[in-house]
Amino acid sequence: MNFIEEIRRRRTFGIVSHPDAGKTTLTEKLLLFGGAIRVAGAVRSNKIRKTAVSDFMEIERQRGISVATSVIGFEYNGYKINILDTPGHQDFQEDTFRTLTAVDSVIIVIDAAKGVEPQTEKLMNVCRIRQTPVIVFINKMDRPARDPFSLLDEIEEMLRINVRPLSWPISSGDNFRGVYNLFDRSLQLFNASIQEIQPAILFKDLNNPELDNHIGREAALLRDELELVEGVYPVFDQERYLSGKQAPVFFGSALYNFGVRELLETFVKIAPWPRPSYTEEREVNPWEETFTGFVFKIHANIDPNHRSRIAFVKVCSGRFERNRTYTHVRQGKTIRISSPTAFMASQKETIEEAFPGDIIGVPDTGNFIIGDTLTEGEIIHFKGLPSFSPELFRYVENADPMKSKQLAKGIDQLMDEGVAQLFTSQFNGRKIIGTVGQLQFEVIQYRLEHEYGAKCRFEAISMYKACWIESPDPGILNEFKKRKYQKMCIDKRGRDVFMADSAFILQMAQDEFKAIKFHFTSEF
Ligand code: G4P
Repeated sequence: MNFIEEIRRRRTFGIVSHPDAGKTTLTEKLLLFGGAIRVAGAVRSNKIRKTAVSDFMEIERQRGISVATSVIGFEYNGYKINILDTPGHQDFQEDTFRTLTAVDSVIIVIDAAKGVEPQTEKLMNVCRIRQTPVIVFINKMDRPARDPFSLLDEIEEMLRINVRPLSWPISSGDNFRGVYNLFDRSLQLFNASIQEIQPAILFKDLNNPELDNHIGREAALLRDELELVEGVYPVFDQERYLSGKQAPVFFGSALYNFGVRELLETFVKIAPWPRPSYTEEREVNPWEETFTGFVFKIHANIDPNHRSRIAFVKVCSGRFERNRTYTHVRQGKTIRISSPTAFMASQKETIEEAFPGDIIGVPDTGNFIIGDTLTEGEIIHFKGLPSFSPELFRYVENADPMKSKQLAKGIDQLMDEGVAQLFTSQFNGRKIIGTVGQLQFEVIQYRLEHEYGAKCRFEAISMYKACWIESPDPGILNEFKKRKYQKMCIDKRGRDVFMADSAFILQMAQDEFKAIKFHFTSEF
Protein backbone atom coordinates (compact mmCIF):
# COMPACT_ATOMS: atom_id res chain seq x y z
CA MET A 1 0.00 0.00 0.00
CA ASN A 2 1.42 3.38 -0.89
CA PHE A 3 1.68 6.45 1.33
CA ILE A 4 -1.46 8.14 -0.05
CA GLU A 5 -3.55 4.99 0.35
CA GLU A 6 -2.35 4.64 3.93
CA ILE A 7 -3.59 8.15 4.70
CA ARG A 8 -6.91 7.75 2.93
CA ARG A 9 -7.84 4.65 4.89
CA ARG A 10 -7.33 6.30 8.27
CA ARG A 11 -10.24 7.46 10.41
CA THR A 12 -9.16 9.21 13.60
CA PHE A 13 -12.02 10.35 15.78
CA GLY A 14 -13.22 10.98 19.31
CA ILE A 15 -16.42 9.93 21.04
CA VAL A 16 -17.82 12.54 23.43
CA SER A 17 -20.93 12.85 25.55
CA HIS A 18 -22.45 14.25 28.66
CA PRO A 19 -21.56 11.76 31.44
CA ASP A 20 -23.78 8.68 31.42
CA ALA A 21 -25.16 9.07 27.91
CA GLY A 22 -23.26 5.93 26.89
CA LYS A 23 -19.85 6.95 25.52
CA THR A 24 -18.03 4.07 27.16
CA THR A 25 -20.63 1.53 26.11
CA LEU A 26 -20.60 2.74 22.52
CA THR A 27 -16.79 2.74 22.37
CA GLU A 28 -16.80 -0.81 23.56
CA LYS A 29 -19.43 -1.92 21.07
CA LEU A 30 -17.53 -0.33 18.19
CA LEU A 31 -14.53 -2.38 19.27
CA LEU A 32 -16.68 -5.45 19.49
CA PHE A 33 -18.13 -4.96 15.99
CA GLY A 34 -14.70 -4.09 14.69
CA GLY A 35 -13.37 -7.36 16.09
CA ALA A 36 -10.86 -5.55 18.29
CA ILE A 37 -12.18 -7.15 21.47
CA ARG A 38 -14.10 -10.36 21.90
CA VAL A 39 -16.16 -9.80 25.02
CA ALA A 40 -18.10 -6.85 26.25
CA GLY A 41 -16.86 -5.42 29.53
CA ALA A 42 -13.20 -4.93 28.66
CA VAL A 43 -13.38 -1.17 28.32
CA ARG A 44 -15.97 -0.69 31.02
CA SER A 45 -13.69 -1.99 33.74
CA ASN A 46 -11.09 0.60 32.73
CA LYS A 47 -13.33 3.54 33.14
CA ILE A 48 -12.82 6.09 35.88
CA ARG A 49 -15.91 5.56 37.95
CA LYS A 50 -17.93 8.65 38.61
CA THR A 51 -18.30 7.70 42.25
CA ALA A 52 -14.56 7.49 42.85
CA VAL A 53 -14.07 11.20 43.44
CA SER A 54 -12.23 10.74 46.71
CA ASP A 55 -10.92 7.26 46.18
CA PHE A 56 -7.45 8.19 45.02
CA MET A 57 -6.03 4.72 44.78
CA GLU A 58 -8.82 3.84 42.45
CA ILE A 59 -8.20 6.95 40.37
CA GLU A 60 -4.51 6.13 40.24
CA ARG A 61 -5.06 2.55 39.26
CA GLN A 62 -7.57 3.45 36.62
CA ARG A 63 -5.55 6.36 35.37
CA GLY A 64 -2.73 3.92 34.73
CA ILE A 65 -4.95 1.57 32.83
CA SER A 66 -6.52 4.39 30.95
CA VAL A 67 -3.17 5.04 29.22
CA ALA A 68 -3.97 1.95 27.23
CA THR A 69 -7.46 3.10 26.43
CA SER A 70 -6.49 6.67 25.62
CA VAL A 71 -6.09 5.66 22.02
CA ILE A 72 -7.36 2.47 20.52
CA GLY A 73 -6.49 1.53 16.98
CA PHE A 74 -8.00 -1.31 15.02
CA GLU A 75 -8.48 -2.52 11.47
CA TYR A 76 -11.99 -2.71 10.05
CA ASN A 77 -12.80 -3.67 6.45
CA GLY A 78 -9.55 -2.22 5.18
CA TYR A 79 -9.83 0.97 7.26
CA LYS A 80 -7.46 1.84 10.07
CA ILE A 81 -9.59 3.25 12.85
CA ASN A 82 -8.15 5.29 15.72
CA ILE A 83 -10.53 6.08 18.55
CA LEU A 84 -9.31 8.73 20.97
CA ASP A 85 -10.82 8.38 24.39
CA THR A 86 -11.82 11.48 26.30
CA PRO A 87 -12.37 11.65 30.06
CA GLY A 88 -16.03 11.55 30.95
CA HIS A 89 -15.63 13.48 34.19
CA GLN A 90 -16.27 17.14 33.58
CA ASP A 91 -13.44 18.19 35.89
CA PHE A 92 -11.12 16.91 33.17
CA GLN A 93 -12.87 18.73 30.36
CA GLU A 94 -9.75 20.60 29.35
CA ASP A 95 -8.15 17.26 28.61
CA THR A 96 -11.13 16.50 26.41
CA PHE A 97 -10.82 19.80 24.56
CA ARG A 98 -7.14 19.10 23.88
CA THR A 99 -7.89 15.62 22.64
CA LEU A 100 -10.37 17.15 20.21
CA THR A 101 -7.47 19.01 18.58
CA ALA A 102 -6.05 15.65 17.51
CA VAL A 103 -9.17 14.17 15.91
CA ASP A 104 -10.46 14.51 12.38
CA SER A 105 -14.09 13.95 13.34
CA VAL A 106 -16.31 13.39 16.35
CA ILE A 107 -19.24 11.19 17.37
CA ILE A 108 -21.48 12.85 19.95
CA VAL A 109 -23.60 10.47 22.04
CA ILE A 110 -26.95 11.71 23.32
CA ASP A 111 -29.32 9.98 25.74
CA ALA A 112 -32.67 9.52 23.96
CA ALA A 113 -34.64 10.25 27.11
CA LYS A 114 -32.65 13.30 28.16
CA GLY A 115 -31.79 14.95 24.86
CA VAL A 116 -29.11 17.63 24.68
CA GLU A 117 -27.40 18.17 28.07
CA PRO A 118 -25.03 20.96 29.19
CA GLN A 119 -21.79 19.07 28.51
CA THR A 120 -23.04 18.14 25.03
CA GLU A 121 -23.46 21.81 24.22
CA LYS A 122 -19.98 22.74 25.46
CA LEU A 123 -18.37 19.97 23.43
CA MET A 124 -20.30 20.95 20.34
CA ASN A 125 -19.09 24.53 20.74
CA VAL A 126 -15.50 23.28 20.56
CA CYS A 127 -16.32 21.24 17.45
CA ARG A 128 -18.00 24.23 15.83
CA ILE A 129 -14.99 26.49 16.41
CA ARG A 130 -12.73 23.91 14.80
CA GLN A 131 -15.27 23.01 12.08
CA THR A 132 -14.94 19.37 13.06
CA PRO A 133 -17.34 17.05 11.24
CA VAL A 134 -19.82 15.67 13.76
CA ILE A 135 -22.05 12.58 13.78
CA VAL A 136 -24.74 12.29 16.43
CA PHE A 137 -25.66 8.92 17.96
CA ILE A 138 -28.94 8.96 19.89
CA ASN A 139 -28.53 6.18 22.41
CA LYS A 140 -30.67 4.15 24.83
CA MET A 141 -33.58 3.67 22.43
CA ASP A 142 -34.34 0.44 24.29
CA ARG A 143 -35.66 2.63 27.09
CA PRO A 144 -38.69 4.91 26.86
CA ALA A 145 -37.35 7.67 24.64
CA ARG A 146 -38.50 11.05 23.46
CA ASP A 147 -40.08 11.36 20.05
CA PRO A 148 -37.29 11.21 17.42
CA PHE A 149 -38.56 14.26 15.55
CA SER A 150 -38.57 16.35 18.71
CA LEU A 151 -35.05 15.14 19.58
CA LEU A 152 -33.84 16.20 16.15
CA ASP A 153 -35.46 19.62 16.57
CA GLU A 154 -33.73 20.05 19.90
CA ILE A 155 -30.35 19.10 18.43
CA GLU A 156 -30.77 21.61 15.61
CA GLU A 157 -31.72 24.33 18.00
CA MET A 158 -29.38 23.74 20.92
CA LEU A 159 -26.33 22.43 19.08
CA ARG A 160 -26.85 24.92 16.26
CA ILE A 161 -26.25 22.47 13.44
CA ASN A 162 -28.48 21.11 10.65
CA VAL A 163 -29.29 17.45 11.03
CA ARG A 164 -30.01 14.61 8.64
CA PRO A 165 -31.04 11.21 10.05
CA LEU A 166 -29.13 8.36 8.45
CA SER A 167 -30.86 5.71 10.49
CA TRP A 168 -34.37 5.58 11.91
CA PRO A 169 -35.61 3.81 15.04
CA ILE A 170 -38.43 1.32 15.03
CA SER A 171 -40.28 2.47 18.12
CA SER A 172 -38.52 2.66 21.51
CA GLY A 173 -38.56 1.17 24.99
CA ASP A 174 -40.01 -2.33 25.20
CA ASN A 175 -41.23 -2.09 21.60
CA PHE A 176 -37.85 -1.12 20.18
CA ARG A 177 -37.06 -3.48 17.30
CA GLY A 178 -33.98 -1.98 15.70
CA VAL A 179 -33.07 0.73 13.23
CA TYR A 180 -33.54 1.20 9.52
CA ASN A 181 -30.35 2.19 7.70
CA LEU A 182 -31.24 5.20 5.57
CA PHE A 183 -27.77 5.38 4.05
CA ASP A 184 -27.78 2.04 2.28
CA ARG A 185 -31.54 1.48 2.66
CA SER A 186 -31.55 -1.80 4.48
CA LEU A 187 -32.90 -3.12 7.72
CA GLN A 188 -31.16 -5.57 9.96
CA LEU A 189 -33.16 -6.97 12.81
CA PHE A 190 -31.05 -7.96 15.78
CA ASN A 191 -31.68 -10.02 18.81
CA ALA A 192 -31.83 -7.89 21.90
CA SER A 193 -28.71 -9.27 23.49
CA ILE A 194 -25.75 -7.66 25.15
CA GLN A 195 -23.20 -10.08 23.71
CA GLU A 196 -24.80 -11.25 20.48
CA ILE A 197 -23.79 -9.12 17.50
CA GLN A 198 -24.95 -11.25 14.61
CA PRO A 199 -27.88 -9.78 12.70
CA ALA A 200 -30.88 -12.07 12.67
CA ILE A 201 -32.53 -11.02 9.41
CA LEU A 202 -31.70 -8.58 6.64
CA PHE A 203 -34.37 -6.73 4.65
CA LYS A 204 -33.36 -4.88 1.52
CA ASP A 205 -36.94 -4.02 0.56
CA LEU A 206 -39.16 -2.38 3.14
CA ASN A 207 -42.28 -3.40 1.21
CA ASN A 208 -41.45 -7.05 1.73
CA PRO A 209 -44.56 -8.43 3.51
CA GLU A 210 -42.25 -10.65 5.57
CA LEU A 211 -41.34 -7.51 7.50
CA ASP A 212 -44.91 -7.17 8.74
CA ASN A 213 -44.73 -10.72 10.01
CA HIS A 214 -41.65 -9.86 12.00
CA ILE A 215 -42.45 -6.49 13.50
CA GLY A 216 -46.24 -6.31 13.09
CA ARG A 217 -47.84 -2.88 13.00
CA GLU A 218 -44.46 -1.20 13.54
CA ALA A 219 -43.74 -1.95 9.88
CA ALA A 220 -46.51 0.33 8.61
CA LEU A 221 -45.51 3.02 11.10
CA LEU A 222 -41.91 2.80 9.95
CA ARG A 223 -42.92 3.25 6.29
CA ASP A 224 -44.98 6.34 7.22
CA GLU A 225 -42.26 7.88 9.33
CA LEU A 226 -39.63 7.33 6.67
CA GLU A 227 -41.79 9.17 4.18
CA LEU A 228 -42.00 12.05 6.60
CA VAL A 229 -38.23 11.99 7.17
CA GLU A 230 -37.56 12.25 3.45
CA GLY A 231 -40.04 15.11 3.20
CA VAL A 232 -38.73 17.11 6.15
CA TYR A 233 -34.95 16.75 6.09
CA PRO A 234 -32.60 17.73 3.27
CA VAL A 235 -30.67 14.89 1.68
CA PHE A 236 -27.38 13.90 3.23
CA ASP A 237 -24.67 16.13 1.79
CA GLN A 238 -21.18 14.83 2.47
CA GLU A 239 -19.55 18.17 1.71
CA ARG A 240 -21.72 19.90 4.28
CA TYR A 241 -20.96 17.17 6.82
CA LEU A 242 -17.23 17.46 6.17
CA SER A 243 -17.32 21.21 6.67
CA GLY A 244 -19.16 20.83 9.98
CA LYS A 245 -22.47 22.24 8.69
CA GLN A 246 -24.65 19.13 8.69
CA ALA A 247 -24.68 16.38 11.29
CA PRO A 248 -25.85 12.92 10.25
CA VAL A 249 -27.84 11.34 13.05
CA PHE A 250 -28.05 7.67 14.03
CA PHE A 251 -30.35 6.02 16.54
CA GLY A 252 -29.68 2.90 18.55
CA SER A 253 -28.98 1.15 21.76
CA ALA A 254 -25.30 0.69 22.45
CA LEU A 255 -26.07 -1.65 25.30
CA TYR A 256 -28.08 -4.01 23.14
CA ASN A 257 -26.02 -3.56 19.97
CA PHE A 258 -28.78 -1.94 17.97
CA GLY A 259 -27.69 0.62 15.43
CA VAL A 260 -23.98 0.24 16.14
CA ARG A 261 -23.19 -1.64 12.94
CA GLU A 262 -25.15 0.94 10.91
CA LEU A 263 -23.13 3.66 12.59
CA LEU A 264 -19.75 2.00 12.06
CA GLU A 265 -20.34 1.00 8.45
CA THR A 266 -21.59 4.41 7.45
CA PHE A 267 -18.96 6.16 9.52
CA VAL A 268 -16.01 4.57 7.69
CA LYS A 269 -17.54 5.56 4.35
CA ILE A 270 -18.37 9.19 5.10
CA ALA A 271 -15.97 10.30 7.85
CA PRO A 272 -12.92 12.28 6.78
CA TRP A 273 -9.42 10.94 6.42
CA PRO A 274 -6.74 13.10 8.07
CA ARG A 275 -7.33 16.79 7.50
CA PRO A 276 -4.78 19.60 7.23
CA SER A 277 -3.41 21.02 10.49
CA TYR A 278 -2.47 24.59 11.22
CA THR A 279 0.78 26.01 12.51
CA GLU A 280 1.68 29.59 13.33
CA GLU A 281 3.70 29.65 10.11
CA ARG A 282 1.63 27.70 7.56
CA GLU A 283 -0.92 25.01 6.82
CA VAL A 284 0.44 21.46 7.02
CA ASN A 285 -1.04 18.94 4.65
CA PRO A 286 -1.07 15.25 5.57
CA TRP A 287 0.22 14.35 2.08
CA GLU A 288 3.50 16.23 2.59
CA GLU A 289 6.46 13.89 2.53
CA THR A 290 8.30 15.16 5.56
CA PHE A 291 7.14 14.14 9.01
CA THR A 292 5.50 16.62 11.38
CA GLY A 293 3.53 15.99 14.56
CA PHE A 294 2.57 17.55 17.86
CA VAL A 295 2.10 16.47 21.48
CA PHE A 296 -1.54 16.80 22.56
CA LYS A 297 -1.50 14.74 25.73
CA ILE A 298 1.00 13.62 28.35
CA HIS A 299 0.31 10.75 30.64
CA ALA A 300 2.33 10.05 33.76
CA ASN A 301 3.36 6.56 34.66
CA ILE A 302 1.38 5.13 37.50
CA ASP A 303 4.44 3.48 39.05
CA PRO A 304 6.18 6.02 41.32
CA ASN A 305 9.48 4.14 40.97
CA HIS A 306 9.56 4.81 37.25
CA ARG A 307 8.56 8.36 36.85
CA SER A 308 8.47 8.17 33.09
CA ARG A 309 5.64 9.56 31.11
CA ILE A 310 4.10 8.92 27.75
CA ALA A 311 3.73 11.82 25.35
CA PHE A 312 0.98 11.25 22.79
CA VAL A 313 2.02 12.58 19.41
CA LYS A 314 -0.43 13.08 16.56
CA VAL A 315 1.23 12.48 13.20
CA CYS A 316 0.15 15.39 10.97
CA SER A 317 2.18 14.78 7.82
CA GLY A 318 4.75 12.42 6.34
CA ARG A 319 5.82 9.01 7.51
CA PHE A 320 7.07 8.64 11.07
CA GLU A 321 9.86 6.08 11.42
CA ARG A 322 11.30 4.50 14.52
CA ASN A 323 14.95 5.36 15.31
CA ARG A 324 15.06 8.32 12.94
CA THR A 325 16.25 11.64 14.28
CA TYR A 326 13.64 14.36 14.53
CA THR A 327 13.76 17.99 15.60
CA HIS A 328 12.18 18.99 18.90
CA VAL A 329 11.33 22.54 17.86
CA ARG A 330 10.82 24.16 21.29
CA GLN A 331 14.05 22.77 22.69
CA GLY A 332 15.94 23.42 19.48
CA LYS A 333 17.56 19.98 19.56
CA THR A 334 17.24 16.64 17.85
CA ILE A 335 15.85 13.48 19.38
CA ARG A 336 15.75 9.85 18.36
CA ILE A 337 12.65 7.91 19.28
CA SER A 338 13.68 4.31 19.73
CA SER A 339 10.58 2.80 21.28
CA PRO A 340 7.46 4.48 19.94
CA THR A 341 4.29 2.63 20.79
CA ALA A 342 0.81 2.33 19.41
CA PHE A 343 -2.26 0.91 21.02
CA MET A 344 -3.72 -1.74 18.80
CA ALA A 345 -6.89 -3.35 20.07
CA SER A 346 -6.01 -1.97 23.51
CA GLN A 347 -2.61 -3.66 23.59
CA LYS A 348 0.48 -1.54 23.62
CA GLU A 349 3.10 -2.50 21.04
CA THR A 350 6.28 -1.00 19.61
CA ILE A 351 5.82 0.23 16.07
CA GLU A 352 8.27 0.75 13.20
CA GLU A 353 6.31 3.44 11.38
CA ALA A 354 3.17 5.54 11.57
CA PHE A 355 1.15 7.64 9.14
CA PRO A 356 -0.82 10.88 9.29
CA GLY A 357 -3.86 10.34 11.50
CA ASP A 358 -2.03 7.91 13.75
CA ILE A 359 -1.21 8.59 17.37
CA ILE A 360 2.10 7.39 18.74
CA GLY A 361 3.08 7.03 22.34
CA VAL A 362 6.60 8.34 23.04
CA PRO A 363 8.28 7.48 26.35
CA ASP A 364 9.33 10.74 27.97
CA THR A 365 11.45 11.68 30.93
CA GLY A 366 10.43 15.31 31.00
CA ASN A 367 11.37 16.56 27.54
CA PHE A 368 7.88 17.29 26.35
CA ILE A 369 5.12 19.68 27.23
CA ILE A 370 1.69 19.84 25.67
CA GLY A 371 1.80 21.58 22.32
CA ASP A 372 5.39 20.61 21.43
CA THR A 373 6.13 20.19 17.73
CA LEU A 374 8.33 17.50 16.14
CA THR A 375 9.60 17.88 12.56
CA GLU A 376 12.37 16.82 10.21
CA GLY A 377 14.08 20.16 10.80
CA GLU A 378 11.51 22.78 9.82
CA ILE A 379 10.77 25.39 12.48
CA ILE A 380 6.99 25.44 12.81
CA HIS A 381 4.64 25.56 15.79
CA PHE A 382 1.28 23.78 15.75
CA LYS A 383 -1.65 25.89 16.84
CA GLY A 384 -4.95 25.04 18.42
CA LEU A 385 -3.98 23.88 21.90
CA PRO A 386 -5.25 26.77 23.98
CA SER A 387 -5.54 26.87 27.74
CA PHE A 388 -8.96 28.07 28.83
CA SER A 389 -9.46 30.35 31.78
CA PRO A 390 -9.78 28.09 34.81
CA GLU A 391 -12.86 28.32 36.99
CA LEU A 392 -11.38 27.57 40.41
CA PHE A 393 -8.25 29.13 41.89
CA ARG A 394 -6.15 28.32 44.96
CA TYR A 395 -2.82 29.51 46.30
CA VAL A 396 -0.48 26.55 46.55
CA GLU A 397 1.84 26.45 49.57
CA ASN A 398 4.65 24.15 50.57
CA ALA A 399 3.59 21.99 53.51
CA ASP A 400 7.01 20.39 54.03
CA PRO A 401 9.91 22.88 53.97
CA MET A 402 12.44 20.07 53.52
CA LYS A 403 10.91 19.19 50.20
CA SER A 404 10.64 22.50 48.39
CA LYS A 405 12.71 21.33 45.42
CA GLN A 406 10.53 18.25 44.97
CA LEU A 407 7.43 20.40 45.20
CA ALA A 408 8.67 22.84 42.56
CA LYS A 409 9.61 19.99 40.23
CA GLY A 410 6.33 18.18 40.81
CA ILE A 411 4.23 21.24 40.14
CA ASP A 412 6.26 22.02 37.07
CA GLN A 413 5.80 18.58 35.59
CA LEU A 414 2.12 18.29 36.45
CA MET A 415 1.50 21.60 34.71
CA ASP A 416 3.44 20.39 31.65
CA GLU A 417 1.07 17.45 31.56
CA GLY A 418 -1.80 19.89 31.51
CA VAL A 419 -3.33 18.74 34.81
CA ALA A 420 -3.99 22.38 35.74
CA GLN A 421 -2.57 25.85 35.12
CA LEU A 422 -0.03 27.76 37.14
CA PHE A 423 0.08 31.52 37.54
CA THR A 424 2.69 33.46 39.47
CA SER A 425 1.58 36.65 41.15
CA GLN A 426 3.72 39.65 40.15
CA PHE A 427 2.72 41.35 43.36
CA ASN A 428 3.81 38.86 46.01
CA GLY A 429 5.39 36.00 44.04
CA ARG A 430 2.85 33.49 45.30
CA LYS A 431 1.86 30.63 43.07
CA ILE A 432 -1.76 30.17 42.07
CA ILE A 433 -3.16 26.98 40.61
CA GLY A 434 -6.25 27.20 38.42
CA THR A 435 -8.48 24.27 37.54
CA VAL A 436 -11.91 23.58 36.10
CA GLY A 437 -12.98 21.27 38.91
CA GLN A 438 -12.37 20.44 42.54
CA LEU A 439 -11.22 16.94 41.67
CA GLN A 440 -8.06 18.28 40.03
CA PHE A 441 -6.85 19.85 43.30
CA GLU A 442 -7.26 16.50 45.00
CA VAL A 443 -5.42 14.72 42.22
CA ILE A 444 -2.56 17.27 42.33
CA GLN A 445 -2.14 16.94 46.09
CA TYR A 446 -2.21 13.17 45.89
CA ARG A 447 0.19 12.92 43.00
CA LEU A 448 2.67 15.43 44.49
CA GLU A 449 2.84 13.29 47.57
CA HIS A 450 2.99 9.89 45.87
CA GLU A 451 5.10 10.65 42.84
CA TYR A 452 7.36 13.46 44.11
CA GLY A 453 7.41 12.97 47.87
CA ALA A 454 6.23 16.57 48.32
CA LYS A 455 3.40 17.94 50.38
CA CYS A 456 1.29 20.93 49.49
CA ARG A 457 -1.51 22.91 51.03
CA PHE A 458 -4.10 24.91 49.15
CA GLU A 459 -5.39 28.24 50.33
CA ALA A 460 -8.74 29.55 49.17
CA ILE A 461 -8.70 32.60 46.94
CA SER A 462 -11.68 34.29 45.45
CA MET A 463 -11.16 34.84 41.78
CA TYR A 464 -13.50 35.07 38.83
CA LYS A 465 -11.41 34.68 35.70
CA ALA A 466 -7.88 34.66 34.36
CA CYS A 467 -7.62 36.94 31.31
CA TRP A 468 -4.69 36.97 28.95
CA ILE A 469 -4.19 40.59 27.96
CA GLU A 470 -2.68 42.23 24.90
CA SER A 471 -2.64 45.62 23.25
CA PRO A 472 -1.04 47.15 20.18
CA ASP A 473 -0.06 50.05 22.45
CA PRO A 474 2.74 49.04 24.88
CA GLY A 475 2.28 52.29 26.82
CA ILE A 476 -1.33 51.46 27.65
CA LEU A 477 -0.42 47.90 28.53
CA ASN A 478 2.18 49.19 30.97
CA GLU A 479 -0.25 51.67 32.42
CA PHE A 480 -2.77 48.88 32.97
CA LYS A 481 -0.18 46.62 34.57
CA LYS A 482 0.88 49.42 36.90
CA ARG A 483 -2.66 50.24 37.91
CA LYS A 484 -3.62 46.59 38.46
CA TYR A 485 -0.27 45.44 39.83
CA GLN A 486 -1.88 43.57 42.70
CA LYS A 487 -3.86 41.43 40.27
CA MET A 488 -1.22 40.81 37.63
CA CYS A 489 0.27 37.35 37.15
CA ILE A 490 2.35 35.60 34.56
CA ASP A 491 1.47 32.17 33.20
CA LYS A 492 3.90 29.31 32.63
CA ARG A 493 4.99 30.76 29.31
CA GLY A 494 5.63 34.20 30.79
CA ARG A 495 2.56 35.89 29.34
CA ASP A 496 0.67 38.62 31.17
CA VAL A 497 -2.53 37.52 32.88
CA PHE A 498 -5.00 39.74 34.67
CA MET A 499 -6.85 38.03 37.51
CA ALA A 500 -10.32 39.49 37.80
CA ASP A 501 -12.05 39.14 41.17
CA SER A 502 -15.54 39.40 39.75
CA ALA A 503 -17.50 39.91 36.56
CA PHE A 504 -18.11 43.48 37.66
CA ILE A 505 -14.41 44.28 38.10
CA LEU A 506 -13.62 42.73 34.75
CA GLN A 507 -16.32 44.81 33.09
CA MET A 508 -14.95 47.98 34.72
CA ALA A 509 -11.44 47.18 33.51
CA GLN A 510 -12.72 46.51 29.99
CA ASP A 511 -14.67 49.78 29.96
CA GLU A 512 -11.74 51.79 31.23
CA PHE A 513 -9.06 50.25 28.99
CA LYS A 514 -10.70 49.95 25.60
CA ALA A 515 -7.36 49.54 23.82
CA ILE A 516 -6.65 46.34 25.71
CA LYS A 517 -7.99 42.99 24.60
CA PHE A 518 -9.00 40.55 27.32
CA HIS A 519 -8.85 36.91 26.22
CA PHE A 520 -10.32 33.96 28.06
CA THR A 521 -8.14 31.44 26.26
CA SER A 522 -4.38 31.52 25.99
CA GLU A 523 -4.39 31.33 22.20
CA PHE A 524 -5.57 34.36 20.30
P1 G4P B 1 -20.59 7.38 29.75
O1 G4P B 1 -19.33 6.69 29.35
O2 G4P B 1 -21.13 8.31 28.70
O3 G4P B 1 -20.54 8.04 31.08
O4 G4P B 1 -21.76 6.27 29.86
P2 G4P B 1 -21.66 4.70 30.03
O5 G4P B 1 -21.32 4.05 28.76
O6 G4P B 1 -20.88 4.36 31.24
O7 G4P B 1 -23.19 4.41 30.31
C1 G4P B 1 -23.86 4.92 31.46
C2 G4P B 1 -24.92 3.96 31.91
O8 G4P B 1 -25.89 3.81 30.86
C3 G4P B 1 -24.40 2.56 32.18
O9 G4P B 1 -25.19 2.01 33.20
C4 G4P B 1 -24.69 1.81 30.89
O10 G4P B 1 -24.83 0.43 31.05
C5 G4P B 1 -25.99 2.44 30.48
N1 G4P B 1 -26.21 2.39 29.03
C6 G4P B 1 -25.34 2.72 28.04
N2 G4P B 1 -25.91 2.53 26.83
C7 G4P B 1 -27.16 2.10 27.06
C8 G4P B 1 -28.25 1.71 26.22
O11 G4P B 1 -28.18 1.74 25.00
N3 G4P B 1 -29.39 1.30 26.84
C9 G4P B 1 -29.51 1.24 28.19
N4 G4P B 1 -30.66 0.83 28.69
N5 G4P B 1 -28.52 1.59 29.02
C10 G4P B 1 -27.36 2.01 28.47
P3 G4P B 1 -24.70 1.99 34.70
O12 G4P B 1 -25.76 1.30 35.45
O13 G4P B 1 -24.32 3.37 35.14
O14 G4P B 1 -23.35 1.23 34.64
P4 G4P B 1 -23.13 -0.33 34.63
O15 G4P B 1 -23.43 -0.74 36.01
O16 G4P B 1 -24.08 -0.88 33.60
O17 G4P B 1 -21.71 -0.47 34.25
